[in-house]
Amino acid sequence: MKKYFVVLFSVVVIAISGFEHTPQINSEEDKLSARVDSVLSLMTLDEKIGQLNQLSFGIGWGPTVKVAVPDEYKQQIREGKIGSFLNAIGAEFTYELQKVATQESRLKIPLIFGLDVIHGFKTTFPVPLGEAATWQPELVEMSAHYQALEAASAGIHWTFSPMVDIARDPRWGRIMEGSGEDPYLGSLMAAAHVRGYQGNLSNLNIIACVKHYAGYGGAEGGRDYNTVDFSERTFRDIYLPPYKAGVEAGAHTLMASFNEIGGIPASGSKYLLTDILRDEWNFKGFVVSDWNSIGEMINHGFASDLKHAGEISLNAGLDMDMESRSYLNHLKELVAEGKVKEAVIDESVRRILRIKFMLGLFDDPFRYCSKEREQKNIMTNEIKNASLDVAKRSFVLLKNGDNILPLKKDYKKIAVIGPLAKSKLDPLGEWNALGIEEDVTSVFEGLKKYVGDKSEILYAEGCKITDPSKDGFKEAIDKANDADVIILCVGESRSMSGEAYSRSSLDLPGVQEDLAKELLKTGKPIIAVLMNGRPLSVNWLNDNAEAILETWFAGTITGDAVAQVLFGEYNPSGKLPVTFPRTVGQVPIYYNHKNTGRPGNEKNRYTSKYLDLPLTPLYPFGYGLSYTTFNYSDVTLSNSKITNKDSLVVTVKVKNTGKYDGEEVVQLYVQDLVGSVTRPVKELKGFKKILLKSGEEKSVDFIIHEKDLRFTAADMKFKSEPGLFKVFVGTNSVDVLENKFELEE
Ligand code: BGC
Repeated sequence: MKKYFVVLFSVVVIAISGFEHTPQINSEEDKLSARVDSVLSLMTLDEKIGQLNQLSFGIGWGPTVKVAVPDEYKQQIREGKIGSFLNAIGAEFTYELQKVATQESRLKIPLIFGLDVIHGFKTTFPVPLGEAATWQPELVEMSAHYQALEAASAGIHWTFSPMVDIARDPRWGRIMEGSGEDPYLGSLMAAAHVRGYQGNLSNLNIIACVKHYAGYGGAEGGRDYNTVDFSERTFRDIYLPPYKAGVEAGAHTLMASFNEIGGIPASGSKYLLTDILRDEWNFKGFVVSDWNSIGEMINHGFASDLKHAGEISLNAGLDMDMESRSYLNHLKELVAEGKVKEAVIDESVRRILRIKFMLGLFDDPFRYCSKEREQKNIMTNEIKNASLDVAKRSFVLLKNGDNILPLKKDYKKIAVIGPLAKSKLDPLGEWNALGIEEDVTSVFEGLKKYVGDKSEILYAEGCKITDPSKDGFKEAIDKANDADVIILCVGESRSMSGEAYSRSSLDLPGVQEDLAKELLKTGKPIIAVLMNGRPLSVNWLNDNAEAILETWFAGTITGDAVAQVLFGEYNPSGKLPVTFPRTVGQVPIYYNHKNTGRPGNEKNRYTSKYLDLPLTPLYPFGYGLSYTTFNYSDVTLSNSKITNKDSLVVTVKVKNTGKYDGEEVVQLYVQDLVGSVTRPVKELKGFKKILLKSGEEKSVDFIIHEKDLRFTAADMKFKSEPGLFKVFVGTNSVDVLENKFELEE
């Protein structure tokens, strides 16, 4: 492959080297923009427009599949009409495309290849909601790093991840792709992903794409692609922070979302794409549209046709058009008509070329196309072990009656029952890139491998996930009768959570709950292992199963992870990044709500509540048990007052009062008691995951600064306001100890 590395960029190289010796150039960024401008100065308008055009492959991709590049694409690349591809995968395949671009087109500008590497390329890690449940940003960073390593070894330069959309509505199927409902946790996870993917771009990292900018998770009714409409204050305080955190962590790209906000489609919003992103946040990278989101502004009723849509988007600040071909087919005409200035196109081209330079593609366009590296770096033991570690840490123990878990090693027979017990497809979750069933360990396989010949593992499917048939119940009941304990694997299929997979119910689909009810009659304890991409209202299981372990969609190594956790080799430490409602009728329900003028009170009729539901959720935000127990005491403050010049230390004692060693996520929340605008009842402001040996006690400190207390005040300024604050510390957002302090001017 080496011979291909010596590629002639005659025109480009001459232009670039000319600038490299210019004396005024003093910073790396200046040098970079000089190189960019040197290329730009050689480009025709058509070539510039080509750089803004991204097309999808999506045919027989993958390192294992060999496909010839269709002539029609080759011709377009030669003519400089394509700046980027998505879904073109594999060292060899991308090499073929890159060769045409860098050897047969006039200016030899390299292509940039993007792909949705959302939670893994070939080795599948837990879905992002599961990763967020680890409450370990450093682990998420490592996971992103490994995903990037695999993808980069197969020709990919750019992932359309992280999805950082805050979601308060679990009906929305894409809640699975994000970090849940909280802006603070979501921001830390956003930044961790960006750091993990991008590294310093020197070592075959890939660039991140923070999406979907902005507010996509606010879809009305939880219906994907639906209208979004919230106040500017809620938008700024709740939804925007994770995008900003991604930008501050250095993300090189963002994706404009499908939705409208307050009447303006995000893909045509100058307010979002220029005023906030460029002017407020000083973002230097480029923005890609979502798939045909420019064209969809016609359906929104915001553009009269594709040409009009292109005019709106480009002028708003959207640099690259994914798949609508609006820029490709209409920008030239729009320039001729004076509706789009060539200078605006130049700016977008600059942003894209800049990233291509930063990725080193002008120096060596085949950097990411090494067949050897592809073979060496994909699905290594190191990466698989990392995915196992993340999977175990993503599990949330929702119930553990009578401390039935960890499982005793002396069970003679264990019945593994349920439609997800042997599934190898569902644990992959949506957006599994090249992850395949054959590589997955099912729960059944994991348990069998773990117990060896010490226990017998019985199996029955019982029922399908959505099918109403109960034909399999009898076999399941027989197996349960024959066993000491039941591991019941229920939940959703992977295609119930993800893009366009919204649901109107949060119940277990199909007859799975009926199956559980029949199994309960056997008198054998039920340990439910849940797989799902959204909060489920598992009330019946909560009341009747002995234990419940939430495993989300945990990826390639699911079975081993489940076995190791059930048998106590790893003591679960995950916490919910999102509230689990009792029923869909409670939605939206989230921990950081406002108090209202009539805070809910079961005993008082004229308060904010439902007649037919308790006020509380099934499981609150931040909730998750351990095989051990933790006792919190003595929340003390270093000072009862704070100003913007100093800080306050909150200290709490946490003791492991059980018989297992365990990790605990100690959580810190704050409430601003009176504001110029109403404030949430609690806001997460810090957390620490600590390991405590059985019997051990530790003091945990959190520092609060004035800047942690800022919000969008009545005058729309982001600032804090003097006054009283409550501080809460605890094991979840409800079970907390509290104290008070005052912020002084
Ligand atoms: C999704 C994006 C994704 C893009 C490219 C769209 O349908 O909304 O999240 O990155 O497709 O696959």
